[in-house]
Amino acid sequence: MKLLLPMALAWTLAAQPAMNDPAAIERGKQTYLGSCAGCHGATGEGGRGPNLRDGKLIRRSNDQQVFQTVQKGVPGSDMPGSPLPEDQVWAVVAYVRALGAPASSMAVAGDKVHGERVYRAAGCANCHAINGQGGALGPDLTNIGGTRSYGLLRESVEKPGERLAAGFQPATVTTRDGRTVAGMVKNHTNYNLQLVDKSGELHLFQAADLADVRFTMKSPMPEGYAAKLGKEDMTDLLAYLSGLSVRPAIRGARTR
Ligand code: HEC
Ligand code: HEC
Repeated sequence: MKLLLPMALAWTLAAQPAMNDPAAIERGKQTYLGSCAGCHGATGEGGRGPNLRDGKLIRRSNDQQVFQTVQKGVPGSDMPGSPLPEDQVWAVVAYVRALGAPASSMAVAGDKVHGERVYRAAGCANCHAINGQGGALGPDLTNIGGTRSYGLLRESVEKPGERLAAGFQPATVTTRDGRTVAGMVKNHTNYNLQLVDKSGELHLFQAADLADVRFTMKSPMPEGYAAKLGKEDMTDLLAYLSGLSVRPAIRGARTR
């Protein structure tokens, strides 16, 4: 039967199962760490080779193109071809894709229901809102699984402040009458400055009343969740966050 199919189609049918398959992605990760991370970075952030996580080129290439690049290399560049068997190349491609795909489009390990309990117990809701419930100091997480990759979610929870979420600039301001308020700058013009404090209260300061504004790169999100929660609770928490999406996850779909 297979022989009657056009070659390319047979190849596609044989090849696709690796994509979005957690076991293949895990195998691909091992290969990636051994053969690719030296040039493309441990989490695809780039180095001698380009960023494979959220680089423009990788996002514009389809799975077949990435497969070809990995198998054949890029002639005239540092990117070598790979002698790996095809299924192993597909596993690496699946892993590279998983680096940048929204978490909600991936099959993710862990127990979401328990993950929600971990989320409540850890006090995440003090600073984050989901569907209108929770604090305002940190970003709204209602659609976080639909807009962030799994790796990025893990990084956000395990290493807060490694790269601050857009629109969340921590600062401490001191007024001329000696008050000090720390929080997130929401709006800052020549005339005034808005700041949300830890309790979610919005403060509006006139520039003329401010003695000092100190921006920091330090996230107010607590560090040390990885150690505090342990591996299993962290996996469940990430499963819960991954499922937070305003669109239902479509298996096999690739969203940008
Ligand atoms: C010796 C360094 C090196 C190694 C090892 C390497 N790459 Fe590359 N890779 C590069 C460079 C440099 C480029 C950019 C090539 C060009 O000029 O277009 C590249 C390009 C790519 C691209 C295309 C990127 C894009 O934005 O379109 C992919 C995909 C890729 N590499 C994946 C891999 C994978 C997967 C592995 C491991 C199997 C790997 N690379 C190993 C250096 C390397
Ligand atoms: C004291 C307040 C606070 C607590 C508690 C807190 N966060 Fe955060 N979180 C923030 C702030 C502020 C940011 C934005 C700055 C940054 O990126 O670090 C943030 C960023 C994030 C991001 C990245 C959001 C994005 O848009 O990329 C995620 C995900 C996240 N937090 C999840 C959690 C989880 C899960 C918990 C509980 C385990 C938690 N946070 C506890 C304040 C908090």
